[in-house]
Amino acid sequence: MMKYYIQIFGCQMNYSDAERFAAKLEELGYKKAADDKEADLIVLITCSVRKSAEDRVYGAINNYHKKKLYPNLKTIILSGCMALRPEVLKKENKADIFMDIKNLNSLLKILKQKNKPAKFGDYFSVKPRYESKFTAYVPIMTGCNNFCSYCIVPFVRGREESRPVEDIISEVKGLIRNGYKEIILLGQNVNSYSPKLGARSSKQKITDFPDLLEYISKLPGNFWLRFITSHPKDLSDKLIRVMAKNKSARGGSAFGGKICEQINLPAQSGDDQILRKMNRHYTVAHYKNLVKKLRKNIPGIAISTDVIVGFPTETKKQFENTIKLFKEIKFDMAYINKYSSREGTAAARLVDNISKAEKVKRAAALNEILKIGALESNRKFIGQTLEVLVEKRNRKGDWAGKARTYKVVKFKSSKNLVGKFVRVKITKAENFGLVGELTK
Ligand code: SAH
Ligand code: SF4
Ligand code: F3S
Repeated sequence: MMKYYIQIFGCQMNYSDAERFAAKLEELGYKKAADDKEADLIVLITCSVRKSAEDRVYGAINNYHKKKLYPNLKTIILSGCMALRPEVLKKENKADIFMDIKNLNSLLKILKQKNKPAKFGDYFSVKPRYESKFTAYVPIMTGCNNFCSYCIVPFVRGREESRPVEDIISEVKGLIRNGYKEIILLGQNVNSYSPKLGARSSKQKITDFPDLLEYISKLPGNFWLRFITSHPKDLSDKLIRVMAKNKSARGGSAFGGKICEQINLPAQSGDDQILRKMNRHYTVAHYKNLVKKLRKNIPGIAISTDVIVGFPTETKKQFENTIKLFKEIKFDMAYINKYSSREGTAAARLVDNISKAEKVKRAAALNEILKIGALESNRKFIGQTLEVLVEKRNRKGDWAGKARTYKVVKFKSSKNLVGKFVRVKITKAENFGLVGELTK
């Protein structure tokens, strides 16, 4: 029996794609290998967003070429975003098959012919083999039209395309029926979700993302609803209204509606000139105003962000503006990225003039501010009882899960509560997490 192993790099989009890849392989008779060592077929779902991400993939492939360590391995498939980069395809000897995930429906043909391109298929029609029994990622769109000047995603993922409403809803309903407790809607920019209206979807009157979110939040069942990611230029008042309204709707949890009070809102920079060079189409003032509206209308909302340090030409003064933004907003979490030039993007034409050492320094400085703000926000939870979806047991033997705010909550329990909602009284705040005791 042929066994497969899938290694995932990059963003949640890839986790979701990997679930569809696994389902397709099982349909073709493959079984999941216990680890990569016993696999006949290894699939790498790759990421191109930064050079370091691609280097990790090459490291993994070089390792897989060690015959002694991987005696069974016959085929390496490289899929995901790197498979769509011409520079990568030149490195032919690295993988047996380079495959656009969109061709998933032709996998059998591709495996037989090794590398003859198959015709485009709707890979979303493949029903995924969900990794988790309680959290599911549901893509609502692919691609991106924004062309932020530093970003490779529009080049590898192609133009924005929204999934039909009825496909998304039937996938979500299936998940709810199967007892899923957390549904995370995925898109590079969910706020520009715009389904082509068919006869059935027009009846449901879902024309944009807030409509879709509201519709799903009203489906009966005991589940939480989250979404990533929101581009600040497209975050509408309507979305804020839907989130705010749901708070009092008392849906899936004892503490609020199904839509969790949490949002990732990538700022990328705290400087208007840099934002312009990044082609982001908003100002710092606009960003701050969004945060103000979110916090006013959705009490207790946790806000996280993505930021890039060392964008070409970013002066110390411009970086200070990002520091200022962090001090002011006090993010609950931030993904701090060091700029990495990507061939083919607009910013790659600018000189990458900020040294590696300076980027490291700027990232560390931001992280310090982040820690202070996040700790301050976490302290507010001490004494409160939070609902937590239990995810796993960590190395120290404590249980860990997520609160509605996406904050990690650790607690002790003699019982295995994975995949269950529990209530935890918070006793301690850490920089990026909370500690508490299980209560009734
Ligand atoms: N669609 C999402 C995120 C896509 S990529 C959005 O618009 O927010 C995830 C993050 O990687 C980005 O938010 C950005 O902070 C970072 N990133 C993208 N390209 C990068 C590059 N060339 N160098 C460093 N970080 C980058
Ligand atoms: Fe990249 Fe910008 Fe699109 Fe996000 S919105 S994927 S950063 S181009
Ligand atoms: Fe990476 Fe592709 Fe996601 S480049 S961040 S895996 S969309």
